[in-house]
Amino acid sequence: MKTQQQRIRETYDWLDKLIRASLGEFPDFSGAVYDGDYSLTLEQAQCRKHDYILRSVKFEPGMRVLDIGSGWSPMLKKIKERGGYPVGITLSPVQAAHSKRHGFDVFLGDWKDLNPDDLGLFGAVISVGAFEHFCNIDEYRAGEQDAIYKEYFSFVNKLLPVGGRHYLQTMTWGRNHPQYEDISLNAPIDSPEYIVAHLNTYYVSSGWLPYGVGHIMENANGFELISANSGRLDYIRTLAHWREQFQKASVRKIAPMIEIAIRYLASNSFRDRMRSSRTGAQLKAFENEVFEHTRMVLEKSS
Ligand SMILES: C[S@@+](CC[C@H](N)C(=O)[O-])C[C@H]1O[C@@H](n2cnc3c(N)ncnc32)[C@H](O)[C@@H]1O
Repeated sequence: MKTQQQRIRETYDWLDKLIRASLGEFPDFSGAVYDGDYSLTLEQAQCRKHDYILRSVKFEPGMRVLDIGSGWSPMLKKIKERGGYPVGITLSPVQAAHSKRHGFDVFLGDWKDLNPDDLGLFGAVISVGAFEHFCNIDEYRAGEQDAIYKEYFSFVNKLLPVGGRHYLQTMTWGRNHPQYEDISLNAPIDSPEYIVAHLNTYYVSSGWLPYGVGHIMENANGFELISANSGRLDYIRTLAHWREQFQKASVRKIAPMIEIAIRYLASNSFRDRMRSSRTGAQLKAFENEVFEHTRMVLEKSS
């Protein structure tokens, strides 16, 4: 049985070429910021997100910024362009190699295995679309969810001076989330219980989400909440934009599509994950408020 970390790593590694051929060399793989203007292109909305994040953490040129879950380094690129010194962390060897190829300083591995003393102090820490992966279902069932979040905030706390900011963007459970005991592929199709069973069985993350801003803050010792807002509608729009981009024909996609077809034929688990993305279960989870999406700005108070 693969661990959640292995599943996350594999999925990013397997889809690397297709994602870059569809979304560009530095793809953002997280919800964008439309500010209610859904006529924006995906690129414009991702650019708004970068600006929003940098404003939120009071970024200044010369600042060292850590990105926990840095993906294909879109934020590292933006920070460098603005005169900062970005450092990333990712679980995916392919993402880490890509970031290094583009001259970025990136740690390959789980933040839980890193010693904050080895990383040094940062002016700001950001994490976009990674927190939702931090607690898996076994950990949730073992009652470890709060302890994992406390460990995370203690890790971030050690990296910041008092007054330093942390931007956290994550999926959370929405108001219609199911209880663990009721989650089942035998539940009525498209019920919250079915959608989550489907995602847990087939989807990349199969994690257990936090319950919202209040739950996250209960575990954020040493941090004050500066602001929080919902990005659920923005995520729905982002998913629609991704779908358009993935469906666009392009010569650059031929080689990755052949690779994917070969893997599809060879691997049951890859077939399952592909099947899941086609059914749009993640979109249904956001539309039906099974999932929420939150953008939080925190400041280290002690
Ligand atoms: C959905 S992607 C988001 C990437 C990027 N922040 C963006 O917005 O495009 C999630 C990222 O979090 C990383 N990640 C997930 N769990 C992690 C962990 N425990 N430690 C380090 N990175 C992690 C993954 O490797 C991946 O790079």
